[in-house]
Amino acid sequence: MTVKDAKIIDLPKFLDARGNLSFAENFKQIPFEIKRTYWLYDVPGGECRGGHAYRENEEFIIALSGSFDVVLDDGQERQVFSLNRSYYGLYVPKGLWREMENFSTNAFALEFGSTLYNINDYIYDYEEFQNLKRDGKI
Ligand code: TYD
Repeated sequence: MTVKDAKIIDLPKFLDARGNLSFAENFKQIPFEIKRTYWLYDVPGGECRGGHAYRENEEFIIALSGSFDVVLDDGQERQVFSLNRSYYGLYVPKGLWREMENFSTNAFALEFGSTLYNINDYIYDYEEFQNLKRDGKI
């Protein structure tokens, strides 16, 4: 997988004077079956989250409120995706290094994962990630 396999996916948007509504479903807007959801909130200014890669887990990330940047890296190339609306999300394939930074005040990041939480799926060392990528092991 490379950063070119990541993509912004627009979500349905029902604009309504009573308030707007968007949604996402398995295998439709989200290109995998959701096994897990988690969220980031109350992130202090200047903090960076998620400096790691997943061997298997795929993700879909939405900025439900506020804004933040998702930095993706495939060992060759880096790309920054700025998320700041609740009606689109970022699909992150497995095997990419990813960091999240520049959180605004009140940023709320909702994340869907394709696997249950498994510490063994994480690669926390960037050099190890680069080696695995170079050797085609992830
Ligand atoms: P981590 O994935 O390291 O956070 P981030 O990548 O956003 O910086 O997770 C932080 C802690 O939360 C870690 O100790 C394990 C726990 N955790 C779970 O128990 N289940 C989960 O689904 C996630 C994402 C984290």
